[in-house]
Amino acid sequence: MLSLQALLPLVAGIAVPVAATAGTSACSNISTQLSSSKVESNELSLSYIESTEYWNTLQDDYKPACIIYPDSAQDVSVVIQAIRAAGSRFAIKAGGHNPNTFYSSVDKGVLLDLSNMTAKSYDEETTLATYEPGGVFGDVYEYFAEWNRTVVGARLAGVGTGLALGGGMSYLSPQYGMACDSFRELEIVLPDGQIVTASNETNTDLFFASRGGGGNAYGIVTKYTVQSRPIGEFWAGNLIYLFDQTDAVVEAIGNFIEYNTDPKAAIIGTYEKLPTPDLDLNLDEAIIMFLVYDGPDPGDAFKNFTYISALLDTTGIKTYTEVVNMPIPFSTEISRGNNMFRVGVHRPGNNSYGNALDEWRNWAESNKGKYELLSLDFQPVPKSLTDASKAQGGNAMQMPDGPYFWLNYLISTPSGMSDADYDAVQASYRDLVKNTGNAEGLPLFINDASYDQNPLQTFSTFSKLQEIKKKYDPDSFFADYTGGWSFA
Ligand SMILES: Cc1cc2nc3c(=O)[nH]c(=O)nc-3n(C[C@H](O)[C@H](O)[C@H](O)COP(=O)(O)OP(=O)(O)OC[C@H]3O[C@@H](n4cnc5c(N)ncnc54)[C@H](O)[C@@H]3O)c2cc1C
Ligand SMILES: *[C@@H]1O[C@H](CO)[C@@H](O)[C@H](O)[C@H]1NC(C)=O
Ligand SMILES: *[C@@H]1O[C@H](CO)[C@@H](O)[C@H](O)[C@H]1NC(C)=O
Ligand SMILES: *[C@@H]1O[C@H](CO)[C@@H](O)[C@H](O)[C@H]1NC(C)=O
Ligand SMILES: *[C@@H]1O[C@H](CO)[C@@H](O)[C@H](O)[C@H]1NC(C)=O
Ligand SMILES: *[C@@H]1O[C@H](CO)[C@@H](O)[C@H](O)[C@H]1NC(C)=O
Ligand SMILES: *[C@@H]1O[C@H](CO)[C@@H](O)[C@H](O)[C@H]1NC(C)=O
Repeated sequence: MLSLQALLPLVAGIAVPVAATAGTSACSNISTQLSSSKVESNELSLSYIESTEYWNTLQDDYKPACIIYPDSAQDVSVVIQAIRAAGSRFAIKAGGHNPNTFYSSVDKGVLLDLSNMTAKSYDEETTLATYEPGGVFGDVYEYFAEWNRTVVGARLAGVGTGLALGGGMSYLSPQYGMACDSFRELEIVLPDGQIVTASNETNTDLFFASRGGGGNAYGIVTKYTVQSRPIGEFWAGNLIYLFDQTDAVVEAIGNFIEYNTDPKAAIIGTYEKLPTPDLDLNLDEAIIMFLVYDGPDPGDAFKNFTYISALLDTTGIKTYTEVVNMPIPFSTEISRGNNMFRVGVHRPGNNSYGNALDEWRNWAESNKGKYELLSLDFQPVPKSLTDASKAQGGNAMQMPDGPYFWLNYLISTPSGMSDADYDAVQASYRDLVKNTGNAEGLPLFINDASYDQNPLQTFSTFSKLQEIKKKYDPDSFFADYTGGWSFA
């Protein structure tokens, strides 16, 4: 899409003219250094096709000069030095779910697909777990479940490990903090190819920035060592509501955000808008509530939701594997499309949840035909979460005390839309989100943000992160040759 190409200078920070041949020369250099099974340039091969599939399918059309499948930090180091020597653009891909163009996709340059790095280990004595960045969280969870343990990660099994570098919201976060709060040590290949360790004892600034300060910025993480967490039985499920219940449910969500104090109780409230007519009755709207309790008995935690009569109720005792496959297995794969995310942040009270919902509904009504699906997801950030984060040293957001909530706005546009129509609808959705007004002094959630929302600038730690970025990417190699969050 031409319009996406036009965004390149914005995404990359500064537009650096890169010769189209730089990618091929990087690839041939890499081919002389790594075994041929780790380099794929054939666009028709199965691995090439799979590696260029993204959750935002608009990126599937890009054709990297080659795809590299490193097996180790050493491989990654060789590759990054060869890319640098050739002056090629590149991208680092874990699960490929970030919808922003060129964050994990690249056209003509080198794509580093981490999918083959999947080693894991568990130390029963220290209860520390390690995992490499390949695969998705479902695979990671499955491995540690053998010990009745897990790591704090995605709420959906199909999401990749890049999630943790953007903070990472889990159903367990109200107890243990964001995914990145459980990091204890990271192995990182720096932009100059050096392989280093970052922890609270060595390269402490790099460790700080990597805890939620964004992937793709300070280096390539090749191994995560994290505090694992116990898991047993869960009480969990989805409640699906239609039409006239929708206002009662948003009030229950607002009350949960403001008043729930049980850290074992977690929810996501997702409003879905279909392209069908509304007829002033919210006929085009459904709400899917995700209710998750870490333990077999939720007590009264979810009473405000279970009181409202639902169309469908799948709650009951579940394993953690079942929990991360709600509402149905392969949700991540099924929801692929021309998807884009935006994010808002609000404090509860003053009907702030209802206001955002109303504005979103009005937008949905007046833009029929321009989307296949819209969703608005309420994600509580309780005080227990921000306390758990602080107790582990705090992350790159240095999260202010909860409660507050992040609103994730999804838009999935029809395929075959003209560039002009696509740009217009994205701009209009951007304005909707902007006009709902964010709460002062609260961070925007990186994992749900659009590139133009510059989430790092909303962190109180922004100037510190800028310094760390300058130290570890001193000649702006990452800043100029791959996509990512702006530090400007
Ligand atoms: C269906 C769906 C469900 C989601 N659910 C959740 C959720 O429950 N909680 C949540 O917090 N977020 C969630 N997200 C948002 C998700 O965290 C982000 O989309 C995240 O970017 C996905 O990581 P990934 O590895 O799949 O994607 P990628 O696009 O591969 O990676 C994301 C970014 O991180 C960089 N990166 C990845 N790995 C590394 C590495 N090892 N070193 C350096 N940089 C790296 C990439 O270059 C890219 O810029 C969800 C997204 C989707 C689409
Ligand atoms: C991934 O690793 C396995 C085992 O090390 C190897 O057999 C396979 O060829 C690798 N895949 C790619 C695409 O390099
Ligand atoms: C090939 O890559 C290596 C780093 O992996 C680099 O040192 C070397 O200069 C590159 N060769 C060429 C011809 O660019
Ligand atoms: C895991 O939990 C199950 C069910 O309580 C139990 O039967 C099993 O022994 C536990 N496994 C380990 C390794 O603790
Ligand atoms: C580093 O983390 C370990 C384990 O969490 C903790 O025991 C130690 O006190 C921390 N050290 C510093 C310097 O913060
Ligand atoms: C349920 O809603 C009521 C207000 O109707 C509120 O007082 C209560 O704290 C809520 N409970 C939870 C757990 O959300
Ligand atoms: C609610 O509105 C009042 C009056 O405008 C304001 O003083 C208060 O801070 C607001 N509360 C929240 C939680 O935003």
